[in-house]
Amino acid sequence: MSISESRIDMVNLHSQYMLLKEEIDSAMAQVIASSDFINGEQVKLFERALADFLSVKELIPCGNGTDALQLALMALDLKPGDEVITTAFSFVASAEVIALMGLKPVFADIDPLTFNIDPLDIERRLTKRTRVILPVHLFGQAADMSAIMQLAHKYQLYVIEDVAQALGACYNYKGETKHLGTIGHIGCTSFFPTKNLACFGDGGACYTDDPSLAERIRTLAAHGSRNRYYYDMIGLNSRLDSLQAAVLLCKLPHLNSFIENRRAVAKQYDELFADIPEMEIPGLQKGAIHSYNQYTIRVKDAKREKLMDELKRTGITSRVYYPLPLHRQKAFKDYVKAGDSLNHSDKACEEVLSLPMHESLDAKDVEFVAARVRDFFK
Ligand SMILES: Cc1ncc(COP(=O)(O)O)c(C=O)c1O
Repeated sequence: MSISESRIDMVNLHSQYMLLKEEIDSAMAQVIASSDFINGEQVKLFERALADFLSVKELIPCGNGTDALQLALMALDLKPGDEVITTAFSFVASAEVIALMGLKPVFADIDPLTFNIDPLDIERRLTKRTRVILPVHLFGQAADMSAIMQLAHKYQLYVIEDVAQALGACYNYKGETKHLGTIGHIGCTSFFPTKNLACFGDGGACYTDDPSLAERIRTLAAHGSRNRYYYDMIGLNSRLDSLQAAVLLCKLPHLNSFIENRRAVAKQYDELFADIPEMEIPGLQKGAIHSYNQYTIRVKDAKREKLMDELKRTGITSRVYYPLPLHRQKAFKDYVKAGDSLNHSDKACEEVLSLPMHESLDAKDVEFVAARVRDFFK
């Protein structure tokens, strides 16, 4: 099949599996043979391996990234009505768990260059009830963590980092290269199949250097129980199962090289798109080391839908992450003041387009996608 007849998808889960097939099959077979499906040895090994990879003291695997965010909020001493400032331009999980906890999501606008929460707008939205800043490291790139941590120190706030899209990405914080999620109080991540480190279903984790927060999160994730059938807190049932941990253990040693491949793809796209005035390539945050979970461009002049159609016609998938900002979603209407302006988030929703991005794309695939984009703008 020639490349012009082939499909180029956003992700290619099958090719990643084929790369590590023998190892993964054998690791899964071992778990099945042991029948140790819940809290098995693989879970403990993965917990330690990922904590070491991230250079963090404590890591608590859990059921998914949304649970990780909820567990992080549950572990803090928050009261109903306390305010959590988060971004208006993201997946719903962060805002959803804030509201579910009886807390108030306060949406801040984004930096139009990086798509990440704008620290200046965070500061504008602080009130006496603000207790937490919850930045999302969107598309695989760090938010402006230096500015966010300055605000957190100045106003005595907690910082929960949503690292669902950015595991393995780093940030230069006070002269030290740190993994995302290890700068604030708690990092939360997801192992959903499209993430940088992906399992074969749902999975997630919280991580922190604070042992008392870690102990609370661990207890909360186990029904609030420290001793079997005795419950100290109202908790959740949120576990990473042994089969998923076995898969993740096989993939973790390859995470950095997968991310390197993603960076090479991004670099090639950047070069091939450099001279197209009707679109913008992803902007870089100072101090951030991007992991390119997504390669997201801006398409100007309302041409995005036409470009998507044209790509689809030539066998290329593209996606709009996200078509509507959180402050305009029906579910959050009670949390938004009439007339509140979050213009950069609105504009991003009109212009963003994510192109195929995964570690198995080769230079020819990228050339093919870029050529179709370039043809469109000719
Ligand atoms: C930014 C962000 N946060 C949280 C989540 C939630 O993760 P999960 O799907 O594992 O619950 C996602 C998942 O897509 C995400 O993209």
